[in-house]
Amino acid sequence: MRTQVGIVGAGPAGLFLSQLLHLQGIESVVFECRDRAYVEARVRAGVLEYGTAETLREAGVGERMDAQGLPHAGTELRFARTRHRIDFAELTGRSIMVYGQQEVVKDLIAARLADGGDVRFQTEVVGVHDLDTNRPRIAFVEAGEPAELDCDFVIGTDGFHGVSRNHVPDLMIYGRDYPFAWLGILAEAPPSSRELIYARHDRGFALHSMRSPKITRMYLQVPADESLHEWPDERIWAELHQRLATDDGFELTEGALLDKSITPMRSFVATPMQHGRLLLAGDAAHIVPPTGAKGMNLAIADVRLLAHALGGYYADGRDDLLASYTETALRRVWRATHFSWWMTAMLHVDPGTDEFGAQLAQAQLDYVTTSRAMATSLAENYTGLPYEQSWSYR
Ligand code: FAD
Ligand code: DHB
Repeated sequence: MRTQVGIVGAGPAGLFLSQLLHLQGIESVVFECRDRAYVEARVRAGVLEYGTAETLREAGVGERMDAQGLPHAGTELRFARTRHRIDFAELTGRSIMVYGQQEVVKDLIAARLADGGDVRFQTEVVGVHDLDTNRPRIAFVEAGEPAELDCDFVIGTDGFHGVSRNHVPDLMIYGRDYPFAWLGILAEAPPSSRELIYARHDRGFALHSMRSPKITRMYLQVPADESLHEWPDERIWAELHQRLATDDGFELTEGALLDKSITPMRSFVATPMQHGRLLLAGDAAHIVPPTGAKGMNLAIADVRLLAHALGGYYADGRDDLLASYTETALRRVWRATHFSWWMTAMLHVDPGTDEFGAQLAQAQLDYVTTSRAMATSLAENYTGLPYEQSWSYR
């Protein structure tokens, strides 16, 4: 078995890279250890940067997003029982798109399979070999049978718990774990607000988001290592009501819970993002806490760079774009890492800090909601900074 680019993992990063390569006439095979139904149902991110939405359109997979996604021209910061709007459109001329990650994944899988793409579900990659040669190999197990794929490049888009990253020797890791986690719910209830609400409360952070005019997505700050058993539905609703309450009578609509999960919060950056013919992208190389809504957007930004660099390799035999991949990708990664850490610190209650930390967070919220300069900084980071180059080589 042989292909040009072997891709480990069918999350947004792996699937989208396969699509961008296909559009440039480059062949790939995508391996995914889970089944298709699982990957399509996994509830995760919901906010697409302006540029992410635009890139999906350019790649021919934006039709359903434009029909069903919810464009938002601003967001709300809520604290001390008061609402403050950050107007993205006025401050930056840009907006974001609220569209579930699993919908992006469904659209990408449908597009790849319609074009005869090779996406193999329930196929686990167990190792990658000969990365220092021009003929790296991917070892995988499909239907219980071990097999290998020869390729020109191996792309590790297998997420934080994947196997690819372990094949980069002398990896440097930077990061921190936060002393809290997010409990996320999906509720069969119409959203209680037209836009997202990021709320800081003495009891902790709360986020009101949505998936459609009928489905609300919400998150609560909970202690790190919290168990879902501690959170029966009534407790979740009671806590959301308290943390989102305003003096002007905000009303939260309740509904049946369709999904409930707890996600740890961490910042993590691994470098270099490449070794020989192996290149890492997305969560395999970096994780941000979800407060800035950056994780999936960074994954898309990484694979834009890879699509361009691999396009240059196959069109003109260029190695330089691949050689500078880590350096180029990390500029955006570190910017998003800072923004995500900053949003997290401003909006969460850190159980380990005293009143000093709480006062700093409050001062920052006061500043960002009264200074046009600071609000613009939040808006341009949230809606997404411009890309350095196009995803296609030509
Ligand atoms: P993944 O989506 O993790 O995909 C990796 C794939 O590789 C998986 O399908 C996995 O099954 C597969 N795999 C792993 N190992 C193997 C193997 N050995 N062989 C074969 N396949 C393998 N980001 C945002 O941009 N905006 C948000 O609003 C946002 N909110 C979030 C909220 C929550 C609760 C969570 C958990 C995350 C959120 N994120 C958000 C982050 C975002 O979901 C991730 O950054 C994104 O999924 C990264 O995509 P990826 O393709 O790199 O990795
Ligand atoms: C969603 C997730 C986020 O991490 C975020 O910052 C905003 C929205 C969501 O799932 O809708």
